[in-house]
Amino acid sequence: MNRRDFLAAGAVLGGTVLATVLAACTPNRETTMTTPTPTPQPTEGASSPDSGGRVLLAYFSRPGENYYYGDRIDLDVGNTQVVAEMIAAATTVDVYRIEPADPYPDDYEETVQRNVREENDDARPAIANPLPDVSDYDIVLLGSPVWNVQTPMIMRTFVEGVDLAGKTIHPFVTYAVSGMGRVDSDYVDLCPDSTIAEGLAVQGEAAAQAQPDVQAWLRRIGL
Ligand SMILES: Cc1cc2nc3c(=O)[nH]c(=O)nc-3n(C[C@H](O)[C@H](O)[C@H](O)COP(=O)(O)O)c2cc1C
Repeated sequence: MNRRDFLAAGAVLGGTVLATVLAACTPNRETTMTTPTPTPQPTEGASSPDSGGRVLLAYFSRPGENYYYGDRIDLDVGNTQVVAEMIAAATTVDVYRIEPADPYPDDYEETVQRNVREENDDARPAIANPLPDVSDYDIVLLGSPVWNVQTPMIMRTFVEGVDLAGKTIHPFVTYAVSGMGRVDSDYVDLCPDSTIAEGLAVQGEAAAQAQPDVQAWLRRIGL
């Protein structure tokens, strides 16, 4: 992350604990960062029932008030969900949505504050829906927003709650300014017996136009 992005990320986060987090902000896996070119695409998508169980797409996304080019926007569908649905429409995957037992506030600043508390407490926010049986999957596409330059704590709940040993994980994120941040290195630490492979980072504001980049990424990773 360069200085400009650092300052911008500080603005996104309201100047919270970013400096501490950035000290470890060195992803050690290849990541595709993209600010997609505008191409109108449908974002309606669904899981593909004929996946044969090989690929699981698991994602967390929060609708509500969010960051939008330095301003705020009210999202009916979260940016990461838009990308998740694009992936599900383009290839054969089973989809699992990570639902927080205690939903995050609609309010952006309240969510930022709650996330800071969860990070400080090293919390594992509970997941409302039963965790999937991942035993039949070889590949897991793991999607989330970037929160405070890292993965939201609820993603830790997920990866610690299922057995991902021996599986290949491709992280995908949406972000405002910081790209993948340290999300892929978070998974390297959290999933030492998995292979953390090429990820995809999509700027949240441009999620609806990400289809060409999503398709190119899927091709590169063989899906
Ligand atoms: C609590 C919180 C923390 C965030 N921290 C960052 C950050 O560190 N870097 C960044 O680029 N964007 C950050 N964002 C912006 C989101 O990553 C971005 O808007 C993302 O596309 C939201 O995805 P979603 O709609 O699927 O939740 C943050 C947003 C929230 C709510």
